Amino acid sequence: MIQKPKGTYDIYGDKAREILYLKKLITSLMDNYNYNYVQTPVFEASELFHRTVGEETDIVSKETYDFKDRGNRDLTLRPEGTAGIVRCFIENKLYVDASPLKTWYFGPMFRYERPQSGRNREFNQFGVEVFGSCNPMIDAETISIVYNLFKLLGLKELKVNINSLGDLESRAKYREALLSYFKPYLNDLCDDCKQRYAKNPLRILDCKIDANSDIMKNAPKISDYLNEDSKKHFAEVQKYLEFMGIDYVINDNLVRGLDYYTHTVFEITSEIEGFGSGNVLGAGGRYDNLVANLGGPNIPGVGFAVGIERLLLALEAENININQEEGIDVYLFATSENERDMMFSLASILRVNGFKTDLDYNLRNFKNNFKHADKLKAKFIIIIGADEVNSKCLTIKNNQTKEEYKVEFDNLIEFLDEKLGDE
Ligand code: HAM
Repeated sequence: MIQKPKGTYDIYGDKAREILYLKKLITSLMDNYNYNYVQTPVFEASELFHRTVGEETDIVSKETYDFKDRGNRDLTLRPEGTAGIVRCFIENKLYVDASPLKTWYFGPMFRYERPQSGRNREFNQFGVEVFGSCNPMIDAETISIVYNLFKLLGLKELKVNINSLGDLESRAKYREALLSYFKPYLNDLCDDCKQRYAKNPLRILDCKIDANSDIMKNAPKISDYLNEDSKKHFAEVQKYLEFMGIDYVINDNLVRGLDYYTHTVFEITSEIEGFGSGNVLGAGGRYDNLVANLGGPNIPGVGFAVGIERLLLALEAENININQEEGIDVYLFATSENERDMMFSLASILRVNGFKTDLDYNLRNFKNNFKHADKLKAKFIIIIGADEVNSKCLTIKNNQTKEEYKVEFDNLIEFLDEKLGDE
């Protein structure tokens, strides 16, 4: 028996309903914020991720699914969404109308990680990328989208962590400070950190192995190296978060696992006890140099991504049920073979008129049809027998009150509209 690959899972039943519900909620939230839906390929040229996410990041150095296609091209299953959206932004010259251009996406990402709860090899992200504005309002707006989505869903145990990595000048100064600080401790660091030291010392702060060592705790803080512009930008982001009533903490050690960030970075975590290490539900930040670094114009960007599977785990941990199995409006069955065609065409009429309808495909007996209608949580049952066909008058049963009605064919839609309309 062939089984699904390790770290992947099938989506069906309750989980499928929950994901569809989240998609619907996100679509309507994004409409309110006036963001545009964008869809990019699931695989891209491998080079794209090397040049955006960064060579030294765990994602690119250890976790990508790389393959050659039959034309010998180097391709990678996307480990995240930002790189593809930035490529799409440049390739389609979307920047001619970036005033700003606000986009969102939803789809599968792939990372070769050690599978555990909240850490899959295939997972879904809802993400946002905004291009063309340096205004700190946008940083705060993107944070508010994640925060408000979680609040709308009813999550309570949340923590908003923010930090600033500053602009290029501030980062360059900070880099120097880190190089001199870590130099005497090089032999005490893990092998990955030794490499990070040479290529991108900021990455050392994101190390999972050395995270709790004194060396790491006493490392210089970026906040001491921010120049005036960077400090001002960060202060304004905080001001706007306060305007929106969003509680946050400044977390000096937050550097994020991807290389493209400048200025604001943030992570929203679930603080439920025992939730485990994968408690970052959504994360992102500003990337003012990424578009230019990829060969596009000098246009700033900011965004985030939310892990859908982790969000579902957080909802479960807080006992929030979003499984909206509402049942159907109408269930139809025929009392004999002769009326089955009529039942089938009536179901089709009801469906195009907006009623959630199902029918008896299996020629069940009376008792089993009522049982099945209950299972489908049908509000009304329409029974079609010879009498109904001859008299052109249907028997309709309210499945909750058990009241029975006789309704002429021609009045059926009007009847159901009236009965179901005020729900
Ligand atoms: P990220 O922090 O790598 O950022 O991922 C964002 C979110 O995706 C995480 O907070 C987590 O909820 C979820 N996630 C990541 N890896 C896994 C996994 N293996 N299994 C399940 N969920 C996972 C990014 O991807 C950036 N592109 C975010 C961004 C957009 N920054 C700016 N724009």
